[in-house]
Amino acid sequence: MKVLVTGGAGFIGSHTVDALLAEGFEVEVLDNLSTGFAHNVPDGVRLIEADIAHPATTKTIADGGYDAVFHLAAQIDVRKSMEDPAFDATTNVVGSIRVLEGCRLGGTKTVVFASTGGACYGEQDLFPTPEDAPLQPISAYGAAKVAVEKYLFVYQANYGLEYRALRYANVYGPRQNPHGEAGVVAIFLNRMLQGMAPRINGDGLQTRDYVYVGDVARANVLALTRLERSGAFNIGTGKEHTVVDVFNGLNAFFNRQFTPEFGPPKPGEQRRSSISPKNFFEAAGFRPETLLFDGLQTTAEWFKQRAFS
Ligand SMILES: NC(=O)c1ccc[n+]([C@@H]2O[C@H](COP(=O)([O-])OP(=O)(O)OC[C@H]3O[C@@H](n4cnc5c(N)ncnc54)[C@H](O)[C@@H]3O)[C@@H](O)[C@H]2O)c1
Repeated sequence: MKVLVTGGAGFIGSHTVDALLAEGFEVEVLDNLSTGFAHNVPDGVRLIEADIAHPATTKTIADGGYDAVFHLAAQIDVRKSMEDPAFDATTNVVGSIRVLEGCRLGGTKTVVFASTGGACYGEQDLFPTPEDAPLQPISAYGAAKVAVEKYLFVYQANYGLEYRALRYANVYGPRQNPHGEAGVVAIFLNRMLQGMAPRINGDGLQTRDYVYVGDVARANVLALTRLERSGAFNIGTGKEHTVVDVFNGLNAFFNRQFTPEFGPPKPGEQRRSSISPKNFFEAAGFRPETLLFDGLQTTAEWFKQRAFS
């Protein structure tokens, strides 16, 4: 089975490529390397350097002969999506439509789409949040993800293109870019490895659902091989951990040498977030299983080796 991973040179995409190769898939990657890296793409995997928003990308995908497309390429910076919502929509909405058009014209059967839990639901009042909770994004990034979920429905209804929209929680792990806005684990590790204490926004008691990237990559593969219906599925642990928990887990790796600095809270930041893994477990027999402490140690080890190699 031949599959394409858009954004396959990035953090989650490259782990997904690894998981697909391990399952025996023939894999190709399409990425413009704006935040991803060619060295994340394993030897022997074809890397098509292209922008999903460019009109030519539709033909590239249509001509590729892909049975399935994992669509992960995106502008992922929430703050940037508010500073330049037109750019965000060009990549995340128009770019996604160009990918879907390629799938339609090329006869692709299934699309697995990287949607988002926290940003799609916005302020939540049920924890962990189920998929049928209201979608009330408060960022252009979240609005674009919701829009693409609607386009997926349109393509399924009109052309029979099956889809799995996977709403990831807060993903962390090796290869995450520490220089972006998102990714508190990578940002903290980057500072700690330079001998600096991490800076916590607000009191650090805001909660998130942290899911290890290896579990997300596995879920991506199972979304193709085990799910039997189109729809949206949360990919999270259903558990809430505070930023202070993350700090403590990482600080244990550094023999507790750091005391965190506390800064002002980020305006508009959600207080709590977690998403229910129940539906995906019932439909695919899998729920993310890496414990936060274990995932943090693995991630810290990887960042340390990379920093000092
Ligand atoms: N990291 C998280 O916690 C999280 C949570 C929810 C959803 N997601 C989604 O998962 C997907 C992957 O995110 P990630 O965290 O691995 O980020 P990432 O930045 O590492 O990966 C995105 C990849 O897409 C590529 N890309 C960006 N714009 C492109 C364009 N116009 N054309 C072609 N390629 C382009 C980048 O070069 C990069 O390799 C994204 O769709 C993101 O919105 C991530």
